[in-house]
Amino acid sequence: MKKLIAGNWKMNCTNTESIALAKAIKADNKNAEVLICPSFTALSVVKDVMGDNLALGAQDCHVTDKGAYTGNISADMLQDIDCHYVILGHSERREQHSEHDNMIGQKVYTALTHNLKPIVCVGEHLDKRESGMHIETVVTQLKSSIPLGVEANDVTVAYEPVWAIGTGRTASTEDILEMHEAIYAFLTERFGVAAENIRILYGGSVKAANAKEILSLDHVGGVLVGGASLNADEFNGIIDAA
Ligand code: PGA
Repeated sequence: MKKLIAGNWKMNCTNTESIALAKAIKADNKNAEVLICPSFTALSVVKDVMGDNLALGAQDCHVTDKGAYTGNISADMLQDIDCHYVILGHSERREQHSEHDNMIGQKVYTALTHNLKPIVCVGEHLDKRESGMHIETVVTQLKSSIPLGVEANDVTVAYEPVWAIGTGRTASTEDILEMHEAIYAFLTERFGVAAENIRILYGGSVKAANAKEILSLDHVGGVLVGGASLNADEFNGIIDAA
């Protein structure tokens, strides 16, 4: 299976900057599927200029298709502009917008109804890791964030320890191996052998310098990259590392 190299641009880049960044990405590594997730306002313009070898993703969608939800974007709208993926349950959404596991699970259903591939994000805070509760925390998140009834082929999981996001502090290889093994075990319990088809991404201060090592670890099916995806050279280095 190809490694998924996903760039989460968060709330960065004007449309002009987004176009320049998308054009500068060299997604020519055959071992990698490369995904970029610009802001909502830049999705359409980026779609128009990006190469065929890039996939387009959004950073969230609403649970419902339409209605009185000021400021929200629906999966229906994302399907309409040919988005391929949607990131759901990012820790910044969980914290800043009070998103909880059940809501994320509902969004997964909605996304799938609109042919969007959900990337379900999970990850523990530092206090949970320090108290030895990190695996239990993540497995609890997974249980409701991946709703019953979805197929293994439908989902991608991203493990992003909250303490490693945007901090420059990457989880150690032991931390990543331990958690990815635990996530894989959960997925196997849920999906049986089909769990092998689910890519489990690592995210949290991934950069060109550490990508190769992270991507070589067991059960690491790709990376979700924030800060380093805003710099084309860095992101291209991560793509090369796959
Ligand atoms: P970071 O962000 O690479 O800047 O740590 C990762 C993410 O939030 O997906």
